[in-house]
Amino acid sequence: MTALHSLGLGIGTQNSKGEWLEVYFPCPVFNPSENLVNAINDVVECGKGNSLTTLNAKQLKAICESLREADEKDQASIAGSLSESERPVVLVLIGSDSKSQSVPEAYLKLHLISHRLAKPHSLVLDGIFGVLPNVAWTNKGAIDLEELPQRQFEARLKGKTLSVNCIDKFPRMTDYVVPNGVRIADTARVRLGAYLGEGTTIMHEGFVNFNAGTEGPNMVEGRISAGVFVGSGSDLGGGCSTMGTLSGGGNIIISVGKECLIGANAGIGIPLGDRCTVEAGLYITAGTKVVLLDDQRKPVGEARARDLAGQDDLLFRRNSTTGAVECLTNQSAVALNEALHAHN
Ligand SMILES: CC(C)(COP(=O)(O)OP(=O)(O)OC[C@H]1O[C@@H](n2cnc3c(N)ncnc32)[C@H](O)[C@@H]1OP(=O)(O)O)[C@@H](O)C(=O)NCCC(=O)NCCS
Repeated sequence: MTALHSLGLGIGTQNSKGEWLEVYFPCPVFNPSENLVNAINDVVECGKGNSLTTLNAKQLKAICESLREADEKDQASIAGSLSESERPVVLVLIGSDSKSQSVPEAYLKLHLISHRLAKPHSLVLDGIFGVLPNVAWTNKGAIDLEELPQRQFEARLKGKTLSVNCIDKFPRMTDYVVPNGVRIADTARVRLGAYLGEGTTIMHEGFVNFNAGTEGPNMVEGRISAGVFVGSGSDLGGGCSTMGTLSGGGNIIISVGKECLIGANAGIGIPLGDRCTVEAGLYITAGTKVVLLDDQRKPVGEARARDLAGQDDLLFRRNSTTGAVECLTNQSAVALNEALHAHN
């Protein structure tokens, strides 16, 4: 049997036309073992590349039995429970990672990231906006937007309220995955597909998009845009911004190294190396002209911020007297930064 990239048994919601709105995978598997794939293959053919199969109770019982015989206890137990489900159940097999062709496939990938089985940027998520439908996320689960008025009316007729929490293509992560060792003050601000490393705290102002996240431990009171990854020990101050690559033409992938501080209301449009600090309120875009200062805080040159991208031990500030953006060695840094001391 050829190796699979990933697989998952999921339970989800379809609209009245039978189109998938969302899928929950209790225990997705990245890089599944041959033993697991062979056991599933006895019931559903796994060698067809990427596929999704809607399963009935009989198939699920057969898969459960086959998994049990192969001593795949966790997946056997899930298949057994799903065989009792009143909601649609799907088996997603990803043979090779390519653009998602279906909602279940896209959801499996988002789960893999939020379960910390795959890092942001390690999976092909291109075109995911075109695959995922816009959905009303309600206290009764996902509802197709066209069907929402009728469902709200029906709820009212029964003296109930259908409460719409948000309308979006992505649900909140915590309705699907709660990784261990995290604190999230407002769960609506972390989308499924976010990667939160152990020891991450997301305060109320913090936000984490899909395909983005933290290595942990981290303190996040600002925005981690899609595609941005933040190294361990870094602190994103209140209301700060990391520039995303989804809109606005930016194509530099932003990242933050280890032990950085992005001050309150600051922002970055360049990747930062380790132990960098950005002064509160200062937004550094790639083209920002930066005056380089030596240890005596004397100007020694000028650079565009993009030329300093990814370098360690930098402190960016806006000179409160002249208004110029300045860069000097971060004094808390252990090593001096060569760019600031080259004197050329
Ligand atoms: C940029 C920052 C890190 C500088 O802090 P610092 O390294 O402690 O620097 P200090 O305030 O001690 O200042 C050191 C010197 O630089 C000068 N200085 C600091 N910021 C300056 C600026 N923007 N323009 C000109 N001079 C400045 C100070 O006046 C001081 O000069 P002195 O030695 O002549 O007295 C700090 O101002 C900052 O913005 N921190 C972010 C905090 C934050 O937002 N945390 C998140 C909370 S949610």
